[in-house]
Amino acid sequence: MASDVVKDQVAAHWDRRAANFDEDFGHSIRTPAERAAWDRIFDLVLPARRGLDALDVGCGTGFLTFELAARGHRVTGIDFAPAMLREARRKAAERPASVRFQAADAEQLPFPAQSFDLVMTRHVLWTLPQPEAAIDEWIRVLRPGGRLVIVDGKLDSTAPQPSTENARTSAEYAAVRDQLPFLGGRFREEIESLVKAHGLVSVASDPVLDLVAAQEQRMVDEGRERVTRRRYVVWGDVDRGSAA
Ligand SMILES: C[S@@+](CC[C@H](N)C(=O)[O-])C[C@H]1O[C@@H](n2cnc3c(N)ncnc32)[C@H](O)[C@@H]1O
Repeated sequence: MASDVVKDQVAAHWDRRAANFDEDFGHSIRTPAERAAWDRIFDLVLPARRGLDALDVGCGTGFLTFELAARGHRVTGIDFAPAMLREARRKAAERPASVRFQAADAEQLPFPAQSFDLVMTRHVLWTLPQPEAAIDEWIRVLRPGGRLVIVDGKLDSTAPQPSTENARTSAEYAAVRDQLPFLGGRFREEIESLVKAHGLVSVASDPVLDLVAAQEQRMVDEGRERVTRRRYVVWGDVDRGSAA
């Protein structure tokens, strides 16, 4: 199946969900414990310097974009689902933030090499037809010393699937699931090895257990079905000696 056909299906799925995306469980920060967990995660993964040129790949409605902008960074969010971008821009118009949103393919970025200090992405790697090529592309647009941060997760195939709206069991994804090599997610250690193999240095990771616990607590508090997901953040740097 042509990559464009796969991407059209994926974009159609997120377009359909854009209006309610922020309300779906886990997409926004709802409790003090979730806020504390995300603050710790950003403190852990972000370089101390403010004013970074940052790229949020597959930004959706802008979760990472707005969090990074709130920390003093200049952020570009890219996505290929028009309705997700519309929602992100609507939110940007309501708040003072140094952000811009652009339509683009995460696997073929419309930016020159070495354009950014930081590339960050949440819950996108699993839905790409060519995740390894995408990692190369994200590294291409980083400056020497720049950092790639990947937030993702691994499904437990033995656990029951959530009964709420779920991308992986949707009709759009059913048509293309064979074309998405990371569909079920990958273990944290695999992503660490992968970014090392693609040339990053000082690679590290964290299992975000505080975020997982905070979200589980909210499931209990809200009387929701309790679903445990392995989640993680992996990051690594472009070698400073890699300037062309
Ligand atoms: C699960 S959502 C995550 C959105 C956002 N990163 C967040 O954490 O809230 C996945 C997003 O990736 C986008 N996406 C998937 N494949 C893409 C691609 N090849 N190029 C650009 N965006 C893509 C989708 O349109 C969707 O907005």
